[in-house]
Amino acid sequence: MNEPTNDLLRLENQFNFLLRFANDIILLMDADGNILEANDVAVNTYGWPLEQLLTLNIRELRDPATLDEMQKQLKLTAETGALFETRHKRRDGTIFPVEVSSRLFEHEGNTYRQSIVRDITERHKMQSKLARDAIRFEGLLKLNEVATQLPEKEFMQFGLEWVERLTGSKIAFIHFVNDDQESIELVAWSAATREKYCTAAYDDHYPVSQAGIWADCLRQRRPVTFNDYANYPDKHGLPEGHSELKRLISVPVIEGEKVRVILGVGNKDSDYDDEDIEIARLFGNDMWRIIHRLRLESELKLNLEQQRALNKQLEEAQSHLLQSEKMASLGQLAAGVAHELNNPIGFVYSNMGTLESYLNDIFAINAAYEEAELTVGDSCPALDHVVKLKHEKDYDYIKQDIFQLMAQSKDGLSRMRKIVQDLKDFSHVGNEGWKWADLHKGLDSTLNIVWNELKYKCQVNKEYGTLPEIYCIASQINQVFLNLLVNAAQAIETKGIITLRTGIKNEEVWVEITDTGKGIPPEQINRIFDPFFTTKPVGVGTGLGLSLSYGIMQKHQGRIEVTSEVGKGTTMRLHLPVKPKSTPSGNN
Ligand SMILES: Nc1ncnc2c1ncn2[C@@H]1O[C@H](COP(=O)(O)OP(=O)(O)OP(=O)(O)O)[C@@H](O)[C@H]1O
Ligand SMILES: [Mg+2]
Repeated sequence: MNEPTNDLLRLENQFNFLLRFANDIILLMDADGNILEANDVAVNTYGWPLEQLLTLNIRELRDPATLDEMQKQLKLTAETGALFETRHKRRDGTIFPVEVSSRLFEHEGNTYRQSIVRDITERHKMQSKLARDAIRFEGLLKLNEVATQLPEKEFMQFGLEWVERLTGSKIAFIHFVNDDQESIELVAWSAATREKYCTAAYDDHYPVSQAGIWADCLRQRRPVTFNDYANYPDKHGLPEGHSELKRLISVPVIEGEKVRVILGVGNKDSDYDDEDIEIARLFGNDMWRIIHRLRLESELKLNLEQQRALNKQLEEAQSHLLQSEKMASLGQLAAGVAHELNNPIGFVYSNMGTLESYLNDIFAINAAYEEAELTVGDSCPALDHVVKLKHEKDYDYIKQDIFQLMAQSKDGLSRMRKIVQDLKDFSHVGNEGWKWADLHKGLDSTLNIVWNELKYKCQVNKEYGTLPEIYCIASQINQVFLNLLVNAAQAIETKGIITLRTGIKNEEVWVEITDTGKGIPPEQINRIFDPFFTTKPVGVGTGLGLSLSYGIMQKHQGRIEVTSEVGKGTTMRLHLPVKPKSTPSGNN
């Protein structure tokens, strides 16, 4: 045995070893690509028996479409050895992707090529699945992103278009299943579905019993696939105007015991598989989860707002109740006091009149005495005592002062009478005088009455709107105007502006009296409607003006609102219904 034979033997042994244990295809070729050796994996993969495989050239194992690039790959192998991807062909003609590691070597003056060929079908599948997964995640991410930016329907359309794209479908739709599980509601479909496939006029709601087999996923509570829709028996048919359906999957979104959503896609060019179902399921679940959360959130928000509004209403109602309770009991008190005072004031007033005339008589008699006194002269000692007494008591002063005292007392009594009258009005004695009246006229005439008090320091601006006549007791409304105008004028210390505005909103007339006066401190604002609350000096204010006005407004089923800022001014705003819902029986 000579050396080269031994070498060759060793080489052959090594090759046999590799042939037996390799996972990849191993081919030994001559420089032209004629196959000289091939391992078992090659036989199994290409499907040729070994004898036949050894008659083939590597070109015959390649996908014909890759032969163009072969020259370049061979050249590269000749220079450095190379690793490249291409496609090979089995005996039955099927093509599969391969990775080839190829190199040339010399042996005993001959050039050989050794190629290790790896079937990378699985790797390719993994890669494209990874790529699809990435797109799928991108879609899910986007879904979450746009959720708060789009209205619900558009959001679902957005999601459906992703499912359509990812599954290679041409139509996509989503139905909500109602709580009863017996009726469904079509809520969204992709743009393509609308344009190309469905001109049917859907009813918003329809029963599951009439739905096609696409609703089987609801009946069976699991995804359903129809890859041969045309030949499927018992389809129920599609609504008028629906184009032909070739393939379809529909998946249920199940929450607890109930199916909430049916998501369907259809008319992919090839058969639907598990991955398509998974995509539809993932998107369906996510869409429902997001919609459900957003719906709950907005419901919660609405509830919260309603609760807040309710609380506020309650607070207002409570303070109104408090106010009107206070008014009612004070009204009773006031009516009682007024009634009790009315009589004594009445008789004191009339007695004062009598007293005054008696005094006049007495002074007349006295004057007669004084005249007699003059005729008697100095010789009457009895008179000396009278003269002395008159002097001592300062009779001349008394004579003059007594009438001043009378006048002051009468003035005091008049004021008391006025207060009693106010108290009576405050407690609404009598309902007379309901009629239709023009508020602008009332405002103007009241303004005339108080003009003397206003003219030196106030400029009055009128911004009247158009008002209908309202049904009211005009004299009482005028009294409210009067109180508010006087208050406004009194709030203005040196110079200021009073603005009168009117308008109507929702069957309710409003009148606003705004002054640029000193304003009301916040701690007093809750007390200004209390009877006898006043910040004015004795003799200027009794503190009844606003409580009286409050009562009058209540009687008219209206209200007064006040806004004020210290140093800036006050706005009193009256609201009155054009006609109170029920007016107390009485005149008109
Ligand atoms: N426009 C206003 N600007 C500032 N304070 C006001 C105004 N209107 C009312 N007030 C405050 O409210 C208090 C009560 O007003 P109300 O009209 O009831 O009584 P009054 O004016 O003090 O006395 P009366 O009206 O009986 O003569 C006033 O004393 C004043 O402190
Ligand atoms: Mg007042």
